[in-house]
Amino acid sequence: MARAALEGGKQPAAADEPRQAPDAPPRKPRPRRDDEPVARPRERHAGRPAPAPAPAAEPRAERRPRGAQAEVFAMFAPCPQGLEHALVDELHALGYDDAHPGRAGAHFTADWNGMMRANLESRLATRVLVRVAHGTVRDEDELLELARATPWERWFGAEQTLRVDTSAVRSPMKSLQFCNLRVKDGICDRLRELEGERPNIDTVRPDARVHAFLDETSATLYLDTSGESLFKRGWRLDKGEAPLRENLAAGLLALSGWPADVPLIDPFCGSGTILIEAALKGLRVPPGISRPFAFERLRGHQDRRWRDLKDDARARILPELPMQLAGADIDPRAIDAARDNAHRAGLTEDAVYFEVADARDTCPLDERAGWLVTNPPYGERLDLEEDRQLWTEWASTLKREFGGWQLHVITSDMEFPRKLRLDPFRRTPVYNGALACRLFGFQLVKGSFRR
Ligand SMILES: C[S@@+](CC[C@H](N)C(=O)[O-])C[C@H]1O[C@@H](n2cnc3c(N)ncnc32)[C@H](O)[C@@H]1O
Repeated sequence: MARAALEGGKQPAAADEPRQAPDAPPRKPRPRRDDEPVARPRERHAGRPAPAPAPAAEPRAERRPRGAQAEVFAMFAPCPQGLEHALVDELHALGYDDAHPGRAGAHFTADWNGMMRANLESRLATRVLVRVAHGTVRDEDELLELARATPWERWFGAEQTLRVDTSAVRSPMKSLQFCNLRVKDGICDRLRELEGERPNIDTVRPDARVHAFLDETSATLYLDTSGESLFKRGWRLDKGEAPLRENLAAGLLALSGWPADVPLIDPFCGSGTILIEAALKGLRVPPGISRPFAFERLRGHQDRRWRDLKDDARARILPELPMQLAGADIDPRAIDAARDNAHRAGLTEDAVYFEVADARDTCPLDERAGWLVTNPPYGERLDLEEDRQLWTEWASTLKREFGGWQLHVITSDMEFPRKLRLDPFRRTPVYNGALACRLFGFQLVKGSFRR
């Protein structure tokens, strides 16, 4: 990365009922037989360039036929705005052939195994929700009726704790809080009538979490199978300055088209999110392998099947990374946080080469061209002169050192390409939380500015 480090000889190592979906073909699950061998998990994932390991098959939806027809559910996976199509591509690659984009997310169908796998394997989804009911509602009483008519007993009962959240877009209802109460009442009334008791409310760590979504004329009720948001992979402790959410970082890598077998550098890497996500993707480590999920506390969950699914996924993890990953940041605390995060993510020290350095001093690791994917400081954090100087000087570095590389930058600064004096070949709208951004893609040409 920075020349000094290279000269020092240290080479980096490498929203629609759960119900039987009447018109969707039931997915055929592939349960593991009890006598099938189970691969043992690997503890830590190494990063030295490997002599082209035999590629293990990417996970696909379970397809082995079994006797009884599996129950199929209508699912919705929300994601950061701008990643919808990338999420659909990811779901297709995972074998959910009917996945299609929705508003800030994707719709698909899955049986219980497929629901667990989507939680385990999706790098881009924020949650995996089952659509349990949908209907026209004109007032709060109709909302209560919809909730009361929904077969919650399929998923949870009085022995579980419950939380309900309600959100709305252009809904005529007067109070969202009252709507929330009505949904809760509908659920509790039904369970008390059927089972004699009602679930307790727990807003902090509920067993079952229901999301009600209201629009102008209708309500949709979703059961959350994820629990904590899926971007909480379980490895982040130290928060650097403005860390990206993990699923947004994975989404940027997907949108950038990074082929996952060429070098990747993040010269403003902060706490390392983009690089750690890249390493986990390159090694095929399932993003949810080390965290708990809400479905584990639902009725009908079979722990044996879940453990088998995780063992299958662990068996596909590659022993070594087939490419080099490197990150730099000018702030030593950010690099400490990035190293700690990588360690907690199960990566060996040589998986990602992190270095305290100014982005203006970075250079490629070797002769191979690759991808720069980065989330530089936003303009408002720098004073104007500092800002101008940084981008002019970084552009010179790019021109001098990174000919043949692709650069992908997420920023809320729509003037960013002009500041670099580069023409983007792509500008993809994407949201970082509530902040409207673009992911600008540039093809870098040695020694020349492209405008
Ligand atoms: C928006 S943050 C990146 C956050 C990162 N994507 C994450 O998920 O943690 C921008 C980073 O750029 C770093 N930075 C600012 N000026 C720099 C420079 N000249 N060279 C390298 N890093 C710099 C800051 O220290 C900060 O960590």
